[in-house]
Amino acid sequence: MAMQRFVIEGGKKLAGTVRISGAKNSALPIIAASILTDKKVVLENVPDLIDVRTMIELISYLGAKVDFRKNTLTIHAPHIKRIDAPYDIVRRMRASYYVLGALVAREKKAHVSFPGGCAIGPRPIDLHIKGLEMIGTTVDIADGYINARARALRGREVNIQGPKGTSVGATINVMIAATRARGVTKIAPAACEPEVVDVANFLNAMGCSVAGHGTHTIIVHGRSSMSGVLYRIIPDRIEAGTFVVTAAMNRGDVTLEHCRPDHLKSVLDVLKETGATFTIGHDTLRIQGAKAMKPVNIFVAPYPGFPTDMQSQFMAFLSIVPGTSTIKETIFENRFMQAVELMRMGARITIEGDTAVIHGVRRLSGAILMASDLRASAALVLAGLVAKGRTVVRRIYHLDRGYEQFEQKLRSLGAHIKRQSE
Ligand code: UD1
Repeated sequence: MAMQRFVIEGGKKLAGTVRISGAKNSALPIIAASILTDKKVVLENVPDLIDVRTMIELISYLGAKVDFRKNTLTIHAPHIKRIDAPYDIVRRMRASYYVLGALVAREKKAHVSFPGGCAIGPRPIDLHIKGLEMIGTTVDIADGYINARARALRGREVNIQGPKGTSVGATINVMIAATRARGVTKIAPAACEPEVVDVANFLNAMGCSVAGHGTHTIIVHGRSSMSGVLYRIIPDRIEAGTFVVTAAMNRGDVTLEHCRPDHLKSVLDVLKETGATFTIGHDTLRIQGAKAMKPVNIFVAPYPGFPTDMQSQFMAFLSIVPGTSTIKETIFENRFMQAVELMRMGARITIEGDTAVIHGVRRLSGAILMASDLRASAALVLAGLVAKGRTVVRRIYHLDRGYEQFEQKLRSLGAHIKRQSE
């Protein structure tokens, strides 16, 4: 496929209603975990994204029969035909590693290539491997592949804390594998992101026994059989957050539908400090941007703290907020790649170690930009929407991995954005 780019005419007022899609980071592990059972699984509210299509391709390769239509995904894996996740698929999406836990649980063996994904600093998977080893898997690494075998999985206490704290992915992977272990697995400290909770709720709906999800201790009682299930994926809190920031930046008036405002508390707290106002409903959220905006200091932290997946978009926002703001990124080491591109639009940003210092300018001006990782790409689009003149964001395939119908949704709010082939 030819490379594509967005062309944006900045300065258009954003107003209206936008419907939030299902959460990518829940859907990916839930699709992988669907191969735990030989019964039929139906998932609703599955976002149609490149990453989701890649995960579907992967489980089809493993032997699942799949039907994906209008955000409803039906999966049926009566037999697993292969136990390997080839490099050609895994390099396109890091989250492919979720089949490791599922295959070890169901087939007691897996052969998974080392992952690729967003280039946001070193992203090892040692904690996934350590967790699986602790419940009885033997792992060796050869030729760029992880070879996992387990004679019998045995539940026990698992500590998968790394230098940056606990890991979302490792918590989920071990939780998935432990559903088929003999005895009780206790994961502590466990990640407590809403996506971890969603996967646990899905597993319980298919007859597994997971408790404590949403806290820092997860308890899994192993079971030998599982049922089919109909399950609905939660709304994407990062997509919702991205639209909320766009509206605040643009001094717009935007209402989100089908979202979970309770998952956005830390993001809304920061936006409130900048002066934006909200009306929070059960599954709706209206945001009205402020005329006079105030700078803020953001500290990225695991949930319920401020999400690392939202800091790029806030950097774009804060670059036009008068005064000095800061963002301290504590989870990934190389995640300020949007800064240099924003500076090409006139933003004043300096990076000091894990902290970005942003001096607000009156306005950004349009430029030709190169998107890097997923959330940084969104940040550049947001900047383009408020900049004077025309902005071109090149290499947008990262965006298509994680945002469903991004430009259509923005257009429905009044943005001038179009997609072109390079
Ligand atoms: C998930 C999300 C990602 C989000 C991140 C943090 C998915 C598909 N991706 O990524 O969007 O930014 O959570 O909220 O859900 N680490 C290790 N060893 C490991 C695993 C992780 O050292 O084996 C480190 C990482 O390099 C990072 C930190 O732990 O510094 C947290 O990473 P983790 O929570 O695992 O992120 P992901 O699950 O990869």
